[in-house]
Amino acid sequence: MTSIIVAIDEHNAIGRKGGLLCHLPQDMQHFKALTTGHTIVMGRTTYLSFPRRPLPNRRHVVLTRDTEWHEDGILVAHTRQEAEALLNDKEENFIIGGGQIYKEWLPKADKLYVTRIHHVFEDADTFFPTLDLTHWQTVKQTEYKADEKNPYDLRFIEYTKRTI
Ligand SMILES: NC(=O)c1ccc[n+]([C@@H]2O[C@H](COP(=O)([O-])OP(=O)(O)OC[C@H]3O[C@@H](n4cnc5c(N)ncnc54)[C@H](OP(=O)(O)O)[C@@H]3O)[C@@H](O)[C@H]2O)c1
Repeated sequence: MTSIIVAIDEHNAIGRKGGLLCHLPQDMQHFKALTTGHTIVMGRTTYLSFPRRPLPNRRHVVLTRDTEWHEDGILVAHTRQEAEALLNDKEENFIIGGGQIYKEWLPKADKLYVTRIHHVFEDADTFFPTLDLTHWQTVKQTEYKADEKNPYDLRFIEYTKRTI
């Protein structure tokens, strides 16, 4: 199974200046809980944006067109098809971004984990594709109120692909 996990603002923004929109420990915890022990797929830009890499206890597949690039402990794919061949077909695989990768993989995904950040980041420069909700069904939603560590209200939403 292929799942996308993403944090999106009210205008579908996901990043700015090569990094995340903001620091949200609650969302980080959610991301860690879901992805630990699984395969995660990402573009090279997202991989290189991690302050510490690789992320512990996850099998990394990094997409790049650079055939010279490699890094210890990382599986490298040069096309989506190569990345697909590296997925674990017995369990959930997570597509973790960024913008280019989400756009290419959204039509292939079975499930979406969306964290909706209730804010608009005016200087955002990277966006998630517009979600066509005729294709996606909400199966779970939980709200999280802003607190001293998380500056914005959040909504954690799980969608599965509609079968018809
Ligand atoms: N809000 C969130 O949940 C979230 C999650 C992840 C990332 N982000 C943000 O998103 C931004 C990064 O997104 P981005 O769109 O700039 O970059 P990206 O999608 O992370 O990576 C783009 C790179 O991936 C490689 N690539 C893309 N498609 C490929 C393909 N079909 N085959 C082989 N390689 C391929 C290319 O690498 P080469 O140039 O090496 O060939 C390309 O430059 C950052 O701001 C990041 O913080 C946000």
